[in-house]
Amino acid sequence: MIIEPRMRGFICLTAHPEGAAQNVKQQIAYVKSKGEINGAKKVLVIGASTGFGLSSRITSAFGSNAATIGVFFEKPASEGKTASPGWYNSAAFEKEAHAAGLYAKSINGDAFSKEVKQEVIDLIKADLGQVDLIVYSLASPVRMHPETGVLHRSALKPIGQTFSNKTVDFHTGKVSEVSIAPAVEEDIENTVTVMGGEDWAMWIDALKAAGVLADGALTVAYSYIGPSLTEAVYRKGTIGRAKDHLEATAFEITDKLKDIHGKAYVSVNKALVTQASSAIPVIPLYISLLYKTMKEMGLHEGTIEQIQRLYAERLYTGGDVPLDDKGRIRIDDWEMRDDVQAKVAELWKEADTDNLAQIGDLEGYRKDFYNLFGFDYSNVDYKADTNEMVNVESIK
Ligand code: NAD
Ligand code: NA
Repeated sequence: MIIEPRMRGFICLTAHPEGAAQNVKQQIAYVKSKGEINGAKKVLVIGASTGFGLSSRITSAFGSNAATIGVFFEKPASEGKTASPGWYNSAAFEKEAHAAGLYAKSINGDAFSKEVKQEVIDLIKADLGQVDLIVYSLASPVRMHPETGVLHRSALKPIGQTFSNKTVDFHTGKVSEVSIAPAVEEDIENTVTVMGGEDWAMWIDALKAAGVLADGALTVAYSYIGPSLTEAVYRKGTIGRAKDHLEATAFEITDKLKDIHGKAYVSVNKALVTQASSAIPVIPLYISLLYKTMKEMGLHEGTIEQIQRLYAERLYTGGDVPLDDKGRIRIDDWEMRDDVQAKVAELWKEADTDNLAQIGDLEGYRKDFYNLFGFDYSNVDYKADTNEMVNVESIK
């Protein structure tokens, strides 16, 4: 079929397999260009198909020749309907990994469930014996709790008071004022249940009990802080409570891993265009000003540059892992630099519909967004008839 982007609100309903393959190839080329990383050799990535998780899988495989198991929740193609982008990314990843002689298998299912955890354990036992790095990179709006069967829905809301600020519809470039009503207590609880650390701890408990964690195993999950501009809706909002919980969970997991000399880390990453971040009001305007500023200063990074730096300059230097005063890894250090934030704050005051295309990187935002779905790659022929029925090699 001829595959074109079909937008509905902030999501794209189609994805392009050739563009997804370009995305994966470009990330692999970047990691290889940076040289070998003395990292983990048997790696489990939970949330491996898009965003930071995909870049983690690529960095492990092509930076450290690691065997990888990837877990994700994606849709394969059906007659006349494309697969979800993460499906095509994973198909392309496995193809490249297998061609390079690397072990790579994937499990498509609900990572929050007991069944998928057991499937992963069985696969590790059968193929790898143990794993020495577990990357936890899930981003989901819902979680079915494995004990209660209750379906929890996260909310992206401020806490305590209505928050009003500027936002942009990045499709039209229109800057407008939004007001977001404050969360009720239940919103906070639900968001912590979905995006907090409980499931991460459940994964590590299950893997440990099954004896599939290697001595000295590391696990890392991803967090975000951001500036005071977005604080009310992000770090001091419902999602921030979930990140507080995730960060606290790292210490609990480290305690539980003492006997096998394991450690859990949270890495605070940079704000980037992903499906998840595009849905949060205010954040797209912040990102478009941040991109403009960081590109001008030569500091811009995407997920692959971020994760390559996380591995090479934080986790696997051979020395101690550098941490902030709250015990977190910081690869948002360039985003949070005073000169970067001062510039973004100045631009924020001026930003309106008329000037945003000049003072912000709306074009870069849109390109990144289209790229998430495999569109807008210069070397893909989007007019060509394309086979949408692409398989992930390890999934039967
Ligand atoms: P993403 O949407 O690109 O990736 C989410 C991954 O989770 C995908 O692989 C998806 O298939 C998988 N997934 C979702 N629900 C699942 C389920 N039920 N079972 C199995 N897999 C499931 O998101 P991302 O932006 O890469 O976010 C990953 C982490 O990084 C999150 O914790 C996020 O908060 C954090 N983070 C994101 C940003 C940002 O700006 N995007 C910044 C800092 C930290
Ligand atoms: Na991810």
